[in-house]
Amino acid sequence: MKGIILAGGSGTRLHPATLVVNKQLLPVYDKPMIYYPLSALMLAGIREILIISSPEYLPHYRTLFGDGSALGLQIAYAEQPRPEGLPQAFTIGREWIAGAPVALVLGDNIFFGNGLSSMLRRAVARIQEGGGATIFSYRVDDPERYGVIAFDAEGRAVSIEEKPEQPLSNHAITGLYVFDAEVCDHAATLTPSPRGELEITDLARRYMDTGTLHVEAMGRGFAWLDTGTHDSLLEAAEFVRTIQHRQGIQIACLEEIAYLQGFITRDAAETRGKALAKTAYSRAILTAIDEAPTPLPFGERRTGDRRRG
Ligand code: DAU
Repeated sequence: MKGIILAGGSGTRLHPATLVVNKQLLPVYDKPMIYYPLSALMLAGIREILIISSPEYLPHYRTLFGDGSALGLQIAYAEQPRPEGLPQAFTIGREWIAGAPVALVLGDNIFFGNGLSSMLRRAVARIQEGGGATIFSYRVDDPERYGVIAFDAEGRAVSIEEKPEQPLSNHAITGLYVFDAEVCDHAATLTPSPRGELEITDLARRYMDTGTLHVEAMGRGFAWLDTGTHDSLLEAAEFVRTIQHRQGIQIACLEEIAYLQGFITRDAAETRGKALAKTAYSRAILTAIDEAPTPLPFGERRTGDRRRG
């Protein structure tokens, strides 16, 4: 399974904060926004990652992550000349995807919750074994701001709409999607919606119509946070701060995750932890080493793991 992070867009709803900075580089409390969706892919066990952004901002991501080896990842980069819709990830990334199943996460989506890692790993395994697609739904109070999915009495998905004026349910579709290798062919045949964009909901509907769409509900134990407006960005930062302070853990500490998943060695984690000294982020890396002196073989998770996910 490969993973794509879509981190372009014009960020107009966050102007003037995003006049010269890409939205996904803004901090959410103590780390760049893109750390959070990247951590979700890493928790799913995905190590080959493509970051797509606009030509002017792509160099910043290269500076931030390089080739990904410091995190035990292989990170590649691709330009999206204009933000013409989320499914472009699969036309821009087609060659890089090279016929593999692929997860897409939007660069402004934050996920947190006990069991997140197992939920993501289950989705990845299901697509790898049986194909199809998995999307994740989340109950919200303002569904008209999102893609919305509705179910029949038997719990089967029957309707998917993008930002409907009159939503048929309160179940928003989050910005995390897992697709089989067919997704590139589907994406290539989509046409723009009335608002002039290719819509990810049209792509998901293709799978729903053929009975190959799986919907995982993220329940009460999960947080799916929005960073689309100044207020929701601040609320997301406050959420991260509250959890981190209360529990003394880090959300989306990439080196900690990389170490505990066996992506990087103890030495590599320690070097990085020391380099970022004097931060809670650094302490989380060094504590992970103390508490788990030897990382696990790739793919295994330690019971009683400090990380939530
Ligand atoms: O966050 C979940 C929602 O994301 C879903 O419920 C919707 O179905 C989906 O369409 C999307 O809605 P948004 O209105 O949030 O999409 P937005 O245009 O804000 O783009 C989401 C992120 O993707 C944003 O960080 C910018 C980036 N992006 C967006 C587009 C359209 C790109 O990098 N390229 C693009 O072409």
